[in-house]
Amino acid sequence: MAHNPYKRKDSYYLKAKQEGYKSRAAYKLIELNQKYKLLKKGYSVLDCGAAPGGWTQVALSLVETTGCVVAVDYEVIEGISGDNFTFIQGDMLKAETITAVLQAANGSFNAVLSDMAPKTTGIKLKDHVGSIELATVALEIAKNTLKAGGSFLVKIFDGEDRPAYLKSLKTLFREVRTIRPDATRKESYEMYVVAIGKLPQV
Ligand SMILES: C[S@@+](CC[C@H](N)C(=O)[O-])C[C@H]1O[C@@H](n2cnc3c(N)ncnc32)[C@H](O)[C@@H]1O
Repeated sequence: MAHNPYKRKDSYYLKAKQEGYKSRAAYKLIELNQKYKLLKKGYSVLDCGAAPGGWTQVALSLVETTGCVVAVDYEVIEGISGDNFTFIQGDMLKAETITAVLQAANGSFNAVLSDMAPKTTGIKLKDHVGSIELATVALEIAKNTLKAGGSFLVKIFDGEDRPAYLKSLKTLFREVRTIRPDATRKESYEMYVVAIGKLPQV
């Protein structure tokens, strides 16, 4: 049987089980937030591609009860509830899901996060193109819903369209960085783009 690196029970997987996180991905957001202070008490946050819910758990604990989290995924998130939590089940590539997100924004967000990833094929170019498509949708949402000064965090699979994607971000945010958190598997070509300080619309 072929070895699947994504099923490997590595130290982050085991840590997530022990600490009650729904995914090992939680540690990526914890690390990125320690570095860039994206989420704070009282913030309203959009979490795109949120299932099974690790980032949502981290975000809810950082924004506390005075903040709120809107999570979107076409997979269900189980076992997370609360007055300050809204789950929208839907495909972010569909207009009706975008409409529901815009309604849930109830004004605007302090941070927009996207850990969305296409179903990977192992064909690097195909996976890259799929991830840039999702990252572009997330950026459109961020353009329309982020407060001035707000932050945007997005996952991409690296490839030839990365420079153009980063260029589009640099016109909208004060500071743009790329980073591979420690919890990213060594064999993965995922990376995260952190964009801080949304510029006021001109
Ligand atoms: C890496 S997982 C996210 C893990 C999550 N951040 C966590 O901490 O548990 C990527 C998610 O993106 C979702 N996704 C991919 N394409 C999507 C789309 N078009 N619309 C909504 N969700 C999507 C997948 O269903 C999957 O749950």
